[in-house]
Amino acid sequence: MSHDYDVLIVGSGAAGLTAALNLATAKRVAVIAKGRLDEGATGWAQGGIAAVLEEGDSFDAHVRDTMIAGAGLNDLAVVEHVVEGAPRAIERLAELGVPFNTGDGEDRWHLTREGGHSHRRIVHVADATGWAVQQALEKAAVAHPNITLIPDMVAIDLVTGRHAIEFSTSGAVHGLYALNRATDRVETITARATVLATGGAGRTYLYSTAPRGATGDGIAMAWRAGCRISNMEFMQFHPTCLYNLEVKNFLITEAVRGEGGRLLIPTTGERFMPRFDERGELAPRDIVARAIDHEIKRLGLDFVHLDISHREPEFVREHFPNIYEKLLGLGIDITTDPIPVVPAQHYTCGGVVVDMDGKTDAPGLYAAGEVTQSGLHGANRLASNSLLECLVFGEAAAHHIDAHWDSLGPPPAIRPWDESRVTDLDEEVVIQQSWGEIRRFMWNFVGIVRTTKRLERAANRIDLLKREVNGYYRDFRVTPNLIELRNLVEVADLIIRSALSRHESRGLHYTLDYPELAAEAVDTVLVP
Ligand code: FAD
Ligand code: SIN
Repeated sequence: MSHDYDVLIVGSGAAGLTAALNLATAKRVAVIAKGRLDEGATGWAQGGIAAVLEEGDSFDAHVRDTMIAGAGLNDLAVVEHVVEGAPRAIERLAELGVPFNTGDGEDRWHLTREGGHSHRRIVHVADATGWAVQQALEKAAVAHPNITLIPDMVAIDLVTGRHAIEFSTSGAVHGLYALNRATDRVETITARATVLATGGAGRTYLYSTAPRGATGDGIAMAWRAGCRISNMEFMQFHPTCLYNLEVKNFLITEAVRGEGGRLLIPTTGERFMPRFDERGELAPRDIVARAIDHEIKRLGLDFVHLDISHREPEFVREHFPNIYEKLLGLGIDITTDPIPVVPAQHYTCGGVVVDMDGKTDAPGLYAAGEVTQSGLHGANRLASNSLLECLVFGEAAAHHIDAHWDSLGPPPAIRPWDESRVTDLDEEVVIQQSWGEIRRFMWNFVGIVRTTKRLERAANRIDLLKREVNGYYRDFRVTPNLIELRNLVEVADLIIRSALSRHESRGLHYTLDYPELAAEAVDTVLVP
């Protein structure tokens, strides 16, 4: 079966839906998601969105904080563009009905604080900002007659001239092949322009705050279609993920530290962050995560404590209602008890190389949000700059598509998906085994603190797994798990290769073999 739209957007989070809403006045847009529409990271965001909204704060200060966190690897023009676009992006969300917390007296919004920010500038909806943003964007998209929302459609690969009935080598992207979960059939979806908004690759790691679907599909698809991928070694680890044997991957927002939460050694009650950085608990994430990792390893601990119990119980319940309820259900009353926390993978700073218009290397292919390396984050993302990037780049990609419509040719006729030489996968266990193996060695060998020897071990293992998984892909009918595993292996390989090629420690990439910062800040760029 095949479908044709003006624009095809892959991903229904903040980046994808923003692009869709900005295109739909004049274009017929389809948005596909590999599961439910609200299953991406957007709905999980807690802290909020960074924007200069208060007197006393300035664009210069937000730009400076972003560059300091990014350890000099950010693109200044991109940082300025995004920071200056923030107030308007917040206004748009407010118009769509996002119920941001309001401030006292003269202040329109309540602004919270997070690590690396020199000012209170995080607009939020209590401790569940992302859910409110996702709901508002989805509601607007559902109501729009020009937007077709297609859940349960798993993109497999982008289609280019090589897949056309009249073969060409132009490299332009004309849509994609996708597995419809409802029918179990592979469909062809063509469009003049395709936007990747597929989120990050957190699930390459054993412990991650990211949702199950964060398997780097967009990064892997763009790589296979000939696009450059950059800075994949900069995997962000969030310092405070709940440590609990039953509930895995639950984030404790950085805003808890922003509102005074302290990190303590459980056995002694010592507040340890001042030993590592004068900004204490509000140092950028890479520094806090490394400090926790260091203390856990040094003292043989399972976790450290995050304690906000010195604040008024009413304040804690009002600012962190979801965390309060969730943890109360696990027997932890955060108004009186400390929270056991460990670092976990959280955000993918690298990705598909895009320019300020969201354009990738392949004609007709755009990308926005966590799937990209736009130049905003550099070697370490500043807290709450990510949803902002989705909003600014989602809109930029839409405007560029609109403005250059005539140069985006109609798609050629594409060959249907060929299943004539494959059989059904006989043992699902091989998929589970490979997936588990990758996530474990990525955690152990390509984690917070790296060495060349550990990275080389990971590289040897990924070579073997790549061969195996490519064999499954060649021989067996695709399933959602096989599609994700193929992408996970590809992306893990890109992370390891990027990490091995950086001979310095900068931002999130810290290696004992090259502990110094190099004189020059240079992006890692992998070319297919
Ligand atoms: P996502 O929202 O992740 O959406 C990805 C979409 O792509 C989904 O719809 C998915 O189904 C679809 N997709 C993926 N692969 C395929 C495929 N093969 N086929 C079809 N569809 C596909 N950032 C902030 O700025 N502030 C915060 O407070 C904050 N808190 C966070 C808390 C948590 C727990 C996490 C995990 C992240 C947080 N972040 C925060 C980061 C931020 O939420 C994400 O970077 C951002 O939401 C990414 O949005 P996106 O639109 O790029 O992708
Ligand atoms: C958090 O709430 O701590 C997450 C913020 C972010 O990832 O930007």
